[in-house]
Amino acid sequence: MIELRLTRRKFVQSILGAGAAAGLPAVFSGCSGSSKASTAARAGAAPQFGASSEAAFPKGFFWGTATAAYQIEGAWNEDGKGESIWDRFAHTPSKIKNGDTGDVACDSYHRWREDIALMRAMNLNGYRFSLAWPRIQPAGSGAANAKGVDYYSRLVDALLEARIRPLVTLYHWDLPQALEDAGGWPNRDTAARFADYVQLAAQALGDRVSDWMIFNEPDAFVDLGHLEGTHAPGRKSLLDFLRATHVVNLAQGAGFRALKAARPRSRVGTAFSMSPCEPASDSEDDKLAAERAHAITNTWFLEPALRGRYPDALAFLPETAMRIESGDMEKTRAPLDFIGINLYYRTIASATGTMERFSHAQEWLFPVKMDGGQQGPKTDFGWEVWPKALYDMVMRITRDYNRPVIEITESGCSYNDGPDASGVIRDSRRIAYHREYLSALSRSIADGADVRGYHAWSLLDNFEWAEGFSQRFGLTYVDFKTRQRILKDSGRWYGKVAAENRVRPA
Ligand code: FCB
Repeated sequence: MIELRLTRRKFVQSILGAGAAAGLPAVFSGCSGSSKASTAARAGAAPQFGASSEAAFPKGFFWGTATAAYQIEGAWNEDGKGESIWDRFAHTPSKIKNGDTGDVACDSYHRWREDIALMRAMNLNGYRFSLAWPRIQPAGSGAANAKGVDYYSRLVDALLEARIRPLVTLYHWDLPQALEDAGGWPNRDTAARFADYVQLAAQALGDRVSDWMIFNEPDAFVDLGHLEGTHAPGRKSLLDFLRATHVVNLAQGAGFRALKAARPRSRVGTAFSMSPCEPASDSEDDKLAAERAHAITNTWFLEPALRGRYPDALAFLPETAMRIESGDMEKTRAPLDFIGINLYYRTIASATGTMERFSHAQEWLFPVKMDGGQQGPKTDFGWEVWPKALYDMVMRITRDYNRPVIEITESGCSYNDGPDASGVIRDSRRIAYHREYLSALSRSIADGADVRGYHAWSLLDNFEWAEGFSQRFGLTYVDFKTRQRILKDSGRWYGKVAAENRVRPA
């Protein structure tokens, strides 16, 4: 395996490039926010999968929904829970749309029984949720907070009783604020703190939970939180971004080993945000850009885990700036039992011009421009609906990583339909989205991919990070004044799919 080497001259150049960056462009989140999209998509669209025929899924397939602690729990300071970086960020004026916070969110901390009843009503056999680290370890170190552990323990028991598999994410972005104050993810020590926390969680719940995810979307929280500053903790620094990248990769390896040491029979994955990267044209430059985009978007945190190396995405790897020490690339290794894929849309990649490269530090380091596609219909968030993206991504990972076990750990759409006069939420566009993405997924299974489950994002309308409550992704409608839950038409439809283990044409 070739590890790209940094020469001192190139490193100095990169820092000069960083200094020249006037404003930080959304290089990484070109993949995560197509509101930033500007380029027209390439000509000659690839065929979509019409959901015109019936698609049956393998026996034992997991039909689930996904949520995250900060987005649904509320109870931000109850029962000994410590402050997280998201509590701090959301309490800082002007960070979140409309001044919303997750202080109460969907109040799932108190209403989890209702949530399980919803899952039962949908015939689901899987639930992906996350643990709030500061609920378990309020200051990010030391003994477990018994009341925090009890909450998750009761939830797990009730899920098992309802014959719903708990799929537990250990970190979905809510770092204890005390660890941020000590340097956060750019600080190497955070990887060791994380491994300790994983050990506590495994001891507390691992007798009943067998399936775990180490991280949710490491690229998203490293990029948005440390480079772009639009997510907690709100830093805007290229160096912090590079350092956090490496510490998170170290933590992924350390967390994996801690979990396996405590619970050798557990199955461990990570949920990576992925998006197939298509060249904007047939030019060689755009094709090369698409390969770089793939490495940055899809394998920046996967290659260190599976192959002990960083992908060749960078013009060079700034090892010194990333603080990579000798022996580290062995420590980042985490032979994951399955790969979690969070997928919403595709990405169109094009080569950057010299001027762009010199005016934006990241485009110098990662010479590629990324935009959302423009041909499919858009969700209310502005994300392009493109079912083939799921097929393409699953097939690429299947090819490149020797047919690994895959779970779709998130896919979904924001449509802000509310109750009509009779209190019914007729969200037919959401039904169409999941039907088409599931048809594409079923095609990938027929073509050889080993996919074991699909988790719709999300069980509930919830707190959508910097967007606050303005984007509704749920199969269940939540009235954010009363916290009352109403199953949407899409929830009823999904329940039928789960019961029949198949998707029928419209
Ligand atoms: C993903 C996040 C999830 C949610 C969806 C819409 O990137 O993992 O928490 O916000 O997007």
